[in-house]
Parts: sequence; C-alpha cells; structure tokens
Amino acid sequence: MATGPMKTIGAGEIRTDQVGDTVTLAGWVARRRDHGGVIFIDLRDASGIVQVVLNPEDAPADDDVLHGLRSEYCIQVTGTVRPRPDGTVNSALPTGEVEVVAGGLNVLSPSAALPFQIDERVDIDESKRLQYRYLDMRRTRMAENLKARSKAIGAMRRVMDRDGFLEVETPTLIASTPEGARDMLVPSRLRPGKFYALPQSPQLFKQLLMIGGVERYYQVAKCYRDEDFRADRQIEFTQLDLEGSFWGQEDVLQVLEQIVAEVVKELRDEEVALPFLRMTHSDAMERFGTDKPDLRFGMEITDLSAIFADTQFKAFAGVLESGGTVRGINGGQLELSRSGLDGLVARAQELGAKGLVWMVVEEGGTLRSPVAKFLSESEIEGVRTALAAGAGDTLLIAADETVAVAKLLGQIRLDVGRPEGNDELAFAFVVDFPVFDVNEDGSLSPAHHPFTDPGDVATLVNSPETAVSKAYDLVLNGSELGSGSVRIHDPEVQAKVFEVMDISDEDAESRFGWFLEALRYGTPPHAGFAIGIDRFVSILRNEPNIREIIPFPKTQTGADPLTGSPSRVDEQQLDELGIDIRPEVVVSWAEEEGVDQG
Ligand code: AMO
Ligand code: AMP
Repeated sequence: MATGPMKTIGAGEIRTDQVGDTVTLAGWVARRRDHGGVIFIDLRDASGIVQVVLNPEDAPADDDVLHGLRSEYCIQVTGTVRPRPDGTVNSALPTGEVEVVAGGLNVLSPSAALPFQIDERVDIDESKRLQYRYLDMRRTRMAENLKARSKAIGAMRRVMDRDGFLEVETPTLIASTPEGARDMLVPSRLRPGKFYALPQSPQLFKQLLMIGGVERYYQVAKCYRDEDFRADRQIEFTQLDLEGSFWGQEDVLQVLEQIVAEVVKELRDEEVALPFLRMTHSDAMERFGTDKPDLRFGMEITDLSAIFADTQFKAFAGVLESGGTVRGINGGQLELSRSGLDGLVARAQELGAKGLVWMVVEEGGTLRSPVAKFLSESEIEGVRTALAAGAGDTLLIAADETVAVAKLLGQIRLDVGRPEGNDELAFAFVVDFPVFDVNEDGSLSPAHHPFTDPGDVATLVNSPETAVSKAYDLVLNGSELGSGSVRIHDPEVQAKVFEVMDISDEDAESRFGWFLEALRYGTPPHAGFAIGIDRFVSILRNEPNIREIIPFPKTQTGADPLTGSPSRVDEQQLDELGIDIRPEVVVSWAEEEGVDQG
C-alpha cells in the first residue's frame, strides 16, 4: 500500500458527509459474511464499526487473502465511501447509512483461533474473560467501561484544575498508614528483613502536604488493602484523593458536589440536584439501619416500642423488659405467598435475628399474622397508624437489642425494597459519624482512621461511645462512595486520640512519631476526602461488580489469571531479601500442584 498515515479516519466516524471520499481504515475483522463472491466485513476499531465491501472483481487483494480473512484479523483497508443501497441501511449503527468499497486490503496481523467470540451476546465465563482481558476489551461492554472510566477521571481533573488544586504524587513504598485493613508488604533488598508497606491511602502524605503549605491537593491515587474481596472491593483500587487547608467540613462537601455533578453530567448527561441531602449518622441508623442508606425508596424503620409497652406477646415483652426495642417497616405491596413470608423469616434468622413477625393488612384493616392472636386491638391499631399501613401492605417487625434490630431491618429493607432496574441516583452525605462504632457485644472499634477530629476531647475521654467526630461519608444508592473528615491539627489532641484508641505510647511513637513531630510546626487546620473511583464508575455504569470497571482486576481469590500473579519467585531473589519460605508452605505448594495444575 502507498505510504502515508496508517489510517485517515476512525471506522465509527464515517457518515454520509464522507460519501465519495477515499479513506484508509485500520482495525479488526468483527464479522465476515461471504455472499457468494462479494465479502462483507464489519471493520471495528476504537471508534466503532463500519461495513466494508470486498468485491473480488475490484481486486482489493489476492483471492486467497480475501477468502482467508478470519475474525479478529488486524487489517488495513483503503476504499471509497458510498451510501448503502436502498433497503440495506442499518439504523442501529451510527455508520449504518454508509459503507466503504475496498480498493485495497492489507492484512497487518492474522489472529489465532479465538478462545471466545468477540460478541456481546455470548456469555463468557469470567475467568476466561480475565485470562484474555485483551480480547475481552475488544467487546463493547469493556470498551465502553474503559471509556467511561477515563471520562470520569477527566471530569474530576477538570473540577480540580478549575478550583486551583495541585496534583501531587505521593510514594507507594512507604511505612504503614492505618486505614483499618491489613497492609500489603514489599520486602527491602537493601535492608534485609525490613518491609515497605503499600499505601492503604495517601492519608498521612496528604496531611504532610498541608503542613508543607500546599493548600489544595488532589491525586488519582492507587491504594492497596489486603482485605477479602467483595463486589465492591479489590485489594488494589483507585481513589480521587483530596485535601484542603483552612477548610472545614462544608468546604469539602461543596467541592465534592461539584465533582459529582461534573462526573454524572459527563457519563450520563444528567444534571444532579444540588445540594445533596445531609443526614446525620444517628438519623441514618435510626431510619435506615445503616450508615449508607439506599434513598431510592422510603420504607423507613419505625420505632414501635411504645405501642408494645404493655404487650402480652412474650417475644416482644421480654425484649422490651431487657432494654431492647421493637421496630418495624412497611414493606408495601409485596404480595408474598405464605412460603414467601416464611422465607423472609428464615432470611432474618440467617442474619442472626431471633425472629421476624410479618403482618399482612387485609381489606377492612384486620391483620393477617401468625402472632395476631397475641396482640390487642390497640396494638394492632397502633402498628397500622405508625407504619401508615393500607390494605395489602406487608409489615415486618423485629424485637431485639437496638443495634441488632437496626441492622436486621436495614438489611430486610434492602431485600424487599431493592428497586430492580431503578436507574435513579440518590446521593447523600452522612455526617457526624461517631468516633467509635459500638459492636453488637458492646465493644468499641474506631469508625475512622485516627487522624479524624474527634470533636470534644473531654467527651472522647469520659464517654467515648457518645463522642461524635467530624467525619462524613458520601453515599450513593446504598453504597459508600467515599469518606473523609476534618483532621486533627493539634499534636496534643492527636496523642490523646492514639491513647483512647488503645494505640500505646510506644506504638504511637514508633509508628507515627514522625507525624506527631510534623504536627508541631504550625499545622494549618485542614480537611479532606477520598472518592472510590471504581465504585463510582461501576454504579454510574450499572455494573454489578467493580471488576467490570478495572482494566486488569484480580479474581475473588486475589489471582490474576492473565499474568499468573501472585507467583513464586526465584530462590536467589529470596536469598537477596533474606527471606525463607516456611517448610509447611512449601509442602502446601506441592499439594496444590499435585491437585491443581491450573
Ligand atoms: P476510606 O478508607 O473510607 O477513606 O476509603 C475511601 C473510599 O475508597 C473506596 N474503597 C475501596 N474501593 C475498592 N476496593 C477497596 N478495597 C476499597 N476500600 C475503600 C471506597 C471508600 O469510600 N484516607 C481516607 C479518606 C480521607 O479521610 O480523606 C480513606 O481512604 O469508595
Ligand atoms: P416464639 O414465641 O419464639 O414461638 O415466636 C413467635 C413468633 O414471634 C415467631 O413468628 C417468631 O419468628 C417471632 N419472634 C420471636 N422472637 C422475635 C423477635 N425478637 N423479634 C421478632 N419476632 C420474633
């Protein structure tokens, strides 16, 4: 073929405007149809697809080249754009009104037989998709997701640039930063026996940047946490991390609103309604039984304890006597059969509940329920009123210790209320997080990292379980999109927090002594946030798992089927690092290899 650019236009960009033009295309054979002599191919590149007509009479290439074309061959075509003949226009395709009549064809690279068809309609096992991710991303789903991810990050950067944020990269071989997960460790060759940690987040570095006088920071940051996998959790993920000095909570929330609005506009061409709802953590727990409420539907949890104060129904009376609560939700018109209702009870028990009472409101207002006979008229009336129940509604009631009931009904609410295919976006900020979460057994665990402003220090010390911190989350459709806080800028307060969080003086000194030291040099008040980019894009794309948004993710068991990581390393590498693999681990390798050749 003649010299010149390898391609002059994207396959997906050709329209009737180009009719009569000579174009050079380069891409892949997406589909090939042999119509007794004339061959039609769909040529696909990053921009889309166009139909190419190969007529052997025009001799675009030797016959054996023409007839040897197979799926996913990488080819180059030179030809003329013409309107498709009447009756052959494909309105489903942006290029559906035109086709390219080839004058020349050049096979740039043949393709081996494919492990799966590059076809949206074919269901492919995910481990195959990941093993051949480079082929998987030729399919529309992944190709579109990668574009969406890039656009989302672009939109974030636009807002950050507009608002004068400085993009700063922070190191990924560091000393441990506590975000509450296990660290991923990297051994040091130069200092055998010592390890770097990969950052769980850039938390302490961004705070150092504030101390360093960078008043507005952001970074598209890789974070690493050795946690169990879930649909919205990978050991390696990406945050939009940001921090600002001379900032309070409201400054952060407003910037976040701008970022979210820009991303939603970019990916969905929708305007989000601002400002987002701000709901306190205790309100969220009361009304939705979770700190990340799905606000696409109501079905709020209602306290019914007062109604049952004098009840004869033993299950409720016993719980109330021991200081627990009775709460319920109106599940609406669930129209469940008896076994469906029993299924809900079984589900509640599976979630650790003592039981779940269901009541179906009949025409005329009577309640159908296995426990109706234990309830008084006034209790029934009270429940109906409190839950605003109408005919056909299913009411679900549980009694237990307060935290347990909230958690249970929060989950049941999601089970029965989950709006299938509800494409709405319901954003909210949950604010005023407690310093500590109270576990079901009454013990305390830190709700956020220990650099969060704990509010009133006297309260923190005297009744830690009631202390409210300046931490806040951004929630979308029942997912935690991100979180942040106003930070501690006083070294005395920081030391106090370590103490209350049971981080010993020595531990604090050895792990964070350098940070306590840094806080002593005129630290500005500062606050910040991090958005989980994988989660955000997956929700906007209606993807059920963040793997669909990550070009090369790990499987559920932490493996990469494409490159084979994690993998063993040479004896010599281990020697240099001063590392021995324990004998029982070597034995387990042998067993693994005996059983599982994969
Ligand atoms: P946090 O630990 O809440 O806060 O993380 C912020 C957000 O990052 C996302 N995220 C994850 N996404 C995928 N896989 C994971 N394993 C994973 N873990 C977290 C979530 C989460 O809301 N340094 C603080 C932020 C701050 O205080 O500024 C931090 O990292 O969307
Ligand atoms: P029992 O008295 O244990 O036979 O339970 C009678 C009914 O009350 C059953 O339908 C149980 O599922 C329900 N139940 C028992 N304990 C509780 C509870 N703590 N909360 C809600 N329902 C309960």
